[in-house]
Amino acid sequence: MEISNAKQVINITPELQARIDELLSHYPADKRKSALLPILHDVQDAHDNWLSIELQDKVAEIIGIQPIEVYEVVSFYTMYNQKPIGKFMFEFCRTSCCAVRGTEDLMEYTCSKLGVQEGEVTPDGMFQVVGVECLGACGYAPMMQLGDYYKEHLTKEKIDTIIDDCRAGKIDLHKQAITE
Ligand code: FES
Repeated sequence: MEISNAKQVINITPELQARIDELLSHYPADKRKSALLPILHDVQDAHDNWLSIELQDKVAEIIGIQPIEVYEVVSFYTMYNQKPIGKFMFEFCRTSCCAVRGTEDLMEYTCSKLGVQEGEVTPDGMFQVVGVECLGACGYAPMMQLGDYYKEHLTKEKIDTIIDDCRAGKIDLHKQAITE
């Protein structure tokens, strides 16, 4: 994913700082980097689900490591976003089990319903549809990830309901939300 020039307001709230401190407390002083992945998750959750370079620099400063050590992690894992994304990102598994159970058809349906191509964000910033590799829930194919949750045995009707629920504010994206 390419790096974005979009501006991001950095806000490390006392609640978020307390969560970071708690994660860091699990490791010795010379191994603080071990907390990097969960810290990035929480920081990203609290910043509209993406991590600008400035925010990655802030994380490096908080942990006490070099910025490059954060960049290399953020750019490696697809769960970290380097540019603004849709509030509700539908991550459809398109690997074997899900593929044979109709992922492509469901993705096409979802994109068409939302009026976007794969990867695009809807003009209102609400939705984005992407294809990802196996999410380890093959027995529940076809499935997708939405925030911290899996939506399984998908059908077009279920997708209609999920979209409606997103618009109605009924979808909880994070199991352990730390918001601004
Ligand atoms: S093939 Fe879709 S979750 Fe494994």
